[in-house]
Amino acid sequence: MTTYRSPSRLVRFWNGPQLYVLIGDASVAFQVNDFTVQKPEFMQYLGGLYFKQGLVSDSCSSDTAHWRWARKTLQPAFNFTNFKQFIAKFHKESLITAKELEQYALTGHSVFLLEHTRNYAYRTIMRTMFDYELNQHKTEEECQMLLGLLEAMFQHFQNRMTVPIYRNLFIYYLTGLRQKENEEMKMLMQFVREVIDLKKTNMDNDISGGLCTNQEDNDQTFVERMLQNPEVSMEELIVQGATIITAGIDTTKSQNIVILLMLALHPDIQNNVYKELMSILDEDITLTPSYEAVCNLSYLDRVIKETLRMYPAAPVLARKAYSELTVTADDGEYTIPAGTVLLTMVTDIHNNPDYYDNPHVFDPDRWLDRHLFTRQPHCYLPFSSGARNCLGYKYALLQMKLLVATLVRTYEILPSETCHTLDDIKFDMSITIKIEETCRLRFKPRRIL
Ligand code: HEM
Repeated sequence: MTTYRSPSRLVRFWNGPQLYVLIGDASVAFQVNDFTVQKPEFMQYLGGLYFKQGLVSDSCSSDTAHWRWARKTLQPAFNFTNFKQFIAKFHKESLITAKELEQYALTGHSVFLLEHTRNYAYRTIMRTMFDYELNQHKTEEECQMLLGLLEAMFQHFQNRMTVPIYRNLFIYYLTGLRQKENEEMKMLMQFVREVIDLKKTNMDNDISGGLCTNQEDNDQTFVERMLQNPEVSMEELIVQGATIITAGIDTTKSQNIVILLMLALHPDIQNNVYKELMSILDEDITLTPSYEAVCNLSYLDRVIKETLRMYPAAPVLARKAYSELTVTADDGEYTIPAGTVLLTMVTDIHNNPDYYDNPHVFDPDRWLDRHLFTRQPHCYLPFSSGARNCLGYKYALLQMKLLVATLVRTYEILPSETCHTLDDIKFDMSITIKIEETCRLRFKPRRIL
């Protein structure tokens, strides 16, 4: 391994014939995200045969035309007017999650929240993007199976990344794992197809001949928008729909747990969040908060922002330089040869004392306006940057905010016997973080739901 310099914010190493550069320099990360949109070939391990054209793993070659078209086509489904309407849906689903947790609050037992945050993420994505109610045409068990398929998909990705011989497709076939992956992915795509078909039938049966006659263009959900776009084929819609489901669930299910862990481990900060919620939102928790009220929860915004700094759900960003690239770091220029895989180490940048004072201290107030101008401008990348940043970042922030607002108003969130210091927070790293089961929480009722 050769370092570009010491202490190393850029590290290069060869893995067989492939050159990698690890980026821990905020300014270089920003330039790389600005100059390149292509991903390395290994991103196509995600989803086996089926996800290649999906936004997240598209463009693992020099040709970026399809990704550019898809990005432009999907973008309007994430607009401001839609978000205003999503609040009621997020809020309703957050009340369901709060109710699910009542059993733990009443017994005092600790709980590993993953099943609950994953179900919340699933229900919110399906309702906001697909107009689909949980269990609309499937049983609860079948829906849980779908969530299991998503987990399996990441497990296959992990297998191929970590076991070098599995990268050889022939060997992967010989192990039987490729066939298993194909079967599981087929079932996932079939589920998405059925959800879309259901919506299409409803739209076709609509007395007005299409549901959007009295709807502003901006109000259309993702699925309505795509079904009405003659450029979008059914196959395209299925693959992009499955991608949004995957990207939306896999990230927020973990990030929501980490936010709640931070509040449990910092009771004073939780108290400040509670006070802000009680001063801005209605006393009646069943009432949907207004968009303006949600926007005014600025302390909660800072808590979420700070959690995303210390523990970003997507800890590494991957790009491939298809042509030679010159980047400028603090100590001079570097030339990155064509063909290099570039890995931006987001967690390292976010926890580097050169960029953040006391980076291991959870301090929401570092996001107060007065501190922003003294900081390196590109050292915050939880949603990446540049043309290929997270399409759903505003959506994610709102979805997380609504869940945390409901849970903190309903319960005092407490540490557990297995997780009571920052050192107890443990993850496995994959494309996204996987929180360990010891990261449990306890809940104490503040009110009856
Ligand atoms: C805490 C929540 C989330 C985090 C931390 C997160 C983070 C990210 C990051 C870092 C990327 C860029 C990866 C790269 O540069 O290679 C990304 C891409 C993407 N995200 Fe998110 N995300 C979150 C939630 C969501 C949600 C809720 C959705 C959809 C509803 C979503 C949809 C997408 C899509 C479609 C892309 C691919 C964009 C493209 O390549 O053009 N994300 N996300």
